[in-house]
Amino acid sequence: MQTIIEPFKIKMVEPIRFTTPQERADILRRAHYNPFHIHAEEVLIDLLTDSGTSAMSAAQWGAMMIADESYSGSRSFFKFEKVVREITGLRHIIPTHQGRAAEKILFSVMGGAGKIIPSNNHFDTTRGNIEYTGAEALDLVIDEGRIPSSQHPFKGNLDLAKLESLLDRAASQIPLGMLTVTNNTGGGQPVSMANIRAVSEALRRRGIPFFLDACRFAENAYFIKRREPGYADKTPLEIAQEMFSYCDGATFSGKKDGLSNIGGFLAVNDDALAEQARNLLILTEGFPTYGGLAARDLEALAIGIQEALEERYLDYRHACVEYFAQKLRAGGIQIVEPPGGHAIYLDARAFLPHLPVEQYPGQALVCALYETGGVRGVEIGSVMFGKRDPQTGAESYAQMDLVRLALPRRVYTQSHVDYLGEVILETYRRREEIGGLRFTYQAPILRHFTARFEPTASA
Ligand code: F0G
Repeated sequence: MQTIIEPFKIKMVEPIRFTTPQERADILRRAHYNPFHIHAEEVLIDLLTDSGTSAMSAAQWGAMMIADESYSGSRSFFKFEKVVREITGLRHIIPTHQGRAAEKILFSVMGGAGKIIPSNNHFDTTRGNIEYTGAEALDLVIDEGRIPSSQHPFKGNLDLAKLESLLDRAASQIPLGMLTVTNNTGGGQPVSMANIRAVSEALRRRGIPFFLDACRFAENAYFIKRREPGYADKTPLEIAQEMFSYCDGATFSGKKDGLSNIGGFLAVNDDALAEQARNLLILTEGFPTYGGLAARDLEALAIGIQEALEERYLDYRHACVEYFAQKLRAGGIQIVEPPGGHAIYLDARAFLPHLPVEQYPGQALVCALYETGGVRGVEIGSVMFGKRDPQTGAESYAQMDLVRLALPRRVYTQSHVDYLGEVILETYRRREEIGGLRFTYQAPILRHFTARFEPTASA
């Protein structure tokens, strides 16, 4: 059979609320044109994030009931630790309430002024946590990864020549190097096994530890299986194990490929680093066998991480994204090609060529999609990554203005995707009516979450 079906049946449903375009125009105004301020009830199809929005399985919900909520030494922790250790091979598994808590702890120990931490692309919380310590977060993704239309099977790869020249120049300033798999900021693009291996070797040759930001490790493993010679007959688990075998540590948000609503971990091999991390964990998260989570969350995570590696699930997950991409391509919409693992990224500059970058075409497109069809996406561009110079007030802009439409795992069906295609094509048809935006408020760090906008005069 040709059709890849959802490899599950639905046991519990959650109604969604319908609104009219007029209501949505009012809601947008009230939300200062920032969909982070819209109440989720007012969203019809929520593609804001694939983080913490997965539908859990009956096995996960069942396991939550038998969790051991002891303060220390919980049985649920040891179950979680065993699963994570089997996949990662890493020695110390330190649970955290989500990915950024692991980042905060890691960079509190290893960051600091004068240091440089290279990656393909740092995610915004990773960058925020690095910069908060005074260190520099440096993005070294390959050139193809910066061009939405360029075709490359592993657009999340790190540019090895740039890494080597950085290492020649500044190895003593680099406390660790990283790769984000898949590369969320760069379009959810995968990193090849060859690239993971080569980055690891380049760093380790100079005694620098290598870390994975492993939020979407299972989706990355699936792309390696499908696209990289030599991996077609390996299981996603075997591929994931090889990916982790090259690293000295990992940060992980269980809200993505953990198929859970909360949770994460920091995993490291180094005993001294683990000790420092656990001491910080106790300050901010909790005892090392629960780390800011209820034991039931550890149970859900232990099962979710394994379910995310099931091949039928990954086939279906990939088919959803590809089906969505096909609809948009057929309508002439420019997306980041080839689509990544968890989302479709619309190229907002191509979608709204009449809007200059100074009018935030990505944010304008996010608002237009909401108004047209109640669909919520997120801007990944100049609002998220641009900056206002605190001295001069001058704005800098991102290299690309994208709109991410992230697909929650196991949540929406094929007809939802059909509807999404219609909404986006309808928005495209009336694109010339869409005006730009300007900031009326921005916070000094991670400004996109709380920013407020108004339409520019020309709108
Ligand atoms: N690293 C990557 C690559 C991420 O995508 C995220 C979160 C984090 C780290 C932080 O994890 O949210 O558990 O603290 N990404 C979400 C998103 C928020 O929408 O892409 P967290």
